[in-house]
Amino acid sequence: MLDGYNREIQYLRVSITDRCDLRCRYCMPPAGVPTLQHEEILSYEEIIRLARIFSTLGIKKIRLTGGEPLVRKGVPQLVRQLKAIPGVQSVVMTSNGVLLGEYLPELVEAGLDGVNISLDAIDGEVFYQICRRDCLHQVLRSIDMALAYGLPLKLNCVPNQWNQRQIVPLTRYAGERNIPLRFIELMPIGEGQNVEGLSESQVTALITAELGQPVLAQDNNPADKCRYYLVPGGARIGFISALSHKFCHSCDRIRLTANGFLKTCLQYDLGIDLKPLLQESDETIKQGIMQAIQSKPQGHHFGLSQEQSDETKKMSQIGG
Ligand code: 5AD
Ligand code: SF4
Repeated sequence: MLDGYNREIQYLRVSITDRCDLRCRYCMPPAGVPTLQHEEILSYEEIIRLARIFSTLGIKKIRLTGGEPLVRKGVPQLVRQLKAIPGVQSVVMTSNGVLLGEYLPELVEAGLDGVNISLDAIDGEVFYQICRRDCLHQVLRSIDMALAYGLPLKLNCVPNQWNQRQIVPLTRYAGERNIPLRFIELMPIGEGQNVEGLSESQVTALITAELGQPVLAQDNNPADKCRYYLVPGGARIGFISALSHKFCHSCDRIRLTANGFLKTCLQYDLGIDLKPLLQESDETIKQGIMQAIQSKPQGHHFGLSQEQSDETKKMSQIGG
């Protein structure tokens, strides 16, 4: 459906858990954040019911996020059921890659259409410095497996003060394997406020110095939040810069948190709590969702001002 600014909303991100097996510096403090209780979290049945309603409103793509989605049991079964909903054309996932290798055969079998894997370093020590867990080998193994299965794959890296010297090695690694590597600008949400991000031009300068100047790819879709460049030698890199290159005008997404809050913009606390509405009819839920989408804000104002309705949840509670 169209929102109040004529944007076609067709992409739903569903956070299925706020728990995670990593503790990335820009996302969580070392001890983690208080997590939701089991009863607060939407059951898979509830998620599927809502997804059916969303699909009647024009949602075509669903992305499962977390926390880390795979710390919750039974994800392949959820994928299978989401894939069976008429109108849902694609079900994808964002994962930190730690448990992905273990579940990959089942996920592929269930019909998963693709996965984005977060990778901030390919050096074990730097990986540990950022993510505070010694799991790089599992992530790399998951990437190899995803490639072997032919699962569409992208890598996400948040360039920051800790992985400056990993930007070029990561670019080489991704280029050698033909995997698009996307640099996500650090967002000043929660712990992200305590970490210094690298700008697009800093990342480009690091790559240019060693590999040559990246050139804008010919096949960029202007509505896409990611702008791709080709690096001499073959790597395809992209930038998702929500702050410095705001893409709110073409934003087609909404987010469902693990406890059932439908968020209509990353920065605002705005939307609707669908959990209590689960006691009501599908039609009532649908009306609630439509009203929330109608009121989706025009855009964020990160770095400009603070507003009463600003989000106070952490990234792991939103799902990125
Ligand atoms: N800014 C930008 N990206 C973030 N992520 C987590 N926290 C932040 C932040 N503050 C990223 C993760 C993952 C994706 C889901 O969101 O690295 O790739
Ligand atoms: Fe976990 Fe993702 Fe947060 Fe890292 S950024 S701690 S992988 S939820």
